[in-house]
Amino acid sequence: MSDVRFNWPTLVGTEREHVAEAIGNQSLSGDGPWTVRSSERLAAITGSSRVLLTSSCTQALELAAILLDLTPGDEVIMPSYTFVSTANAFVLRGAVPVFVDVEPGTMNIDAALIEAAVTERTRAIAVVHYAGVACAMGEIGAIAERHGLAVVEDAAQAIDARYEDRHLGAIGTFGTFSFHDTKNVTSGGEGGALLVNDERYWDRARIVREKGTNRSLFLEGLVDKYSWVDVGSSFLMAELNAAFLAAQLDALDAITRTRLAAWRRYRALLEPLVRSGALEVGEIPPYATHNAHLHFVKARDGAERNALIAWLREAGITAPFHYVPLHSAPGGRKFGRFHGEDAWTTREAARLVRLPLFHGIDDETQRRVVAAIASFYAS
Ligand SMILES: Cc1ncc(COP(=O)(O)O)c(C=O)c1O
Repeated sequence: MSDVRFNWPTLVGTEREHVAEAIGNQSLSGDGPWTVRSSERLAAITGSSRVLLTSSCTQALELAAILLDLTPGDEVIMPSYTFVSTANAFVLRGAVPVFVDVEPGTMNIDAALIEAAVTERTRAIAVVHYAGVACAMGEIGAIAERHGLAVVEDAAQAIDARYEDRHLGAIGTFGTFSFHDTKNVTSGGEGGALLVNDERYWDRARIVREKGTNRSLFLEGLVDKYSWVDVGSSFLMAELNAAFLAAQLDALDAITRTRLAAWRRYRALLEPLVRSGALEVGEIPPYATHNAHLHFVKARDGAERNALIAWLREAGITAPFHYVPLHSAPGGRKFGRFHGEDAWTTREAARLVRLPLFHGIDDETQRRVVAAIASFYAS
C-alpha cells in the first residue's frame, strides 16, 4: 500500500498548454498578457476590481503594510494562530503585532475580543480566514469603522470562500491570497495576489509594486515618462506563473466542488468518532461558505494529538499539526504581545491535526485515513 501524502499540488491538465503559450509569447516578465488575463479573472471571481498579482501572499501582505504607512510602534491586531508572514509583514515596518485569542470552533480571531485590544497606536486589524472559513467580518468591519482602522484580510487559504455573499479578501481595505502549491489553486509553486478594495490606495499600490516607479502609469499612457517616485520593491508575478494560474482559475468551480465533496466525506466518515466524544471537528458559522481548504480534527489534548500523528505515520499517512502560536515563538515574544487571556489559542493549536486533503483525493484513501484514526482510538 502506498503512503498517503498530506497534499498534492492541484493540477487540472491545461497548465502545460498555457505555459507553452506564454513561452511562445516571448514576454516572460510581469504584467504581460497572462497577468492581465489572470488578474481580470480574479477580479471577476472576487468582485474586487483592483487586483495585483504578486509572487507570494507574503509579498502581498508586505505590500499592504507599506501602503498603510505604518510608523514604528504602531499596532496591528491579529490572531496568534497564523502563519508567520501575517505578523512579519507589519514587523518589517516597525509595527507591533498585538495578538488576541481565537474562537475554538473556527480557530479564527474572536471578534468580541478585538475592541478591548485597541489603543491609540492601533492602525489596523489583520484577520486570517483559517481553513477558508470566514471571520465575523460584519462585527470586525464595525469595530474598524468606529476606530478608523484599516482591515487587512489574510485570505491566503480563502479563494472561492465567502462571508455571506461577499468573496473573502474583497471586504477589508486589502485582501491577500496565496497560490503556493499547498493551496486550493496554485500558480505553479509560489504566487499570490493583493486586492486593493479601497481605491485611495490604488495608484500608490501600483507604484510600490513596481520598485517605487510610476512605470504602470506610464504603460497606461497616464504619464509621459516614468521615474522613481516612492519607496517600493519588486512584487510582480512572472508570466509563466500567471499562465499556470489562469488554467486553475478557469477550473475553480470544479476544484472547489471536488474539495467540498471530499471534505463532506470526511465529515460523514468521522461522525461516529465525533459522536463518541473521541474527536472534535471544526465549526462552519452560518455566515460562512467555505472552500474546503483543509479538514482538521482535534484530539483531547496535545499528548494524544502527538500520539495520533505518530500512529498515522506508522500507517503510512502524513497528517500534520499546524501553526505554533506566534506569541510563544522567539520572534513573537521579541516583536509582539498578547492582549488578554490566551484561553484557547495555545490549548487548541496543541490538539489540532490536519487530515490529507487535496484535489483528486479518492474515497478509498479517505476511508483508509479514517479507519486508521478509528484504530488509534480502539487501541
Ligand atoms: C494564513 C497564511 N498567510 C500567509 C501565508 C503565506 O503565503 P505564501 O507562501 O504565498 O507567501 C500562508 C502560507 O501558508 C498562510 O497560511
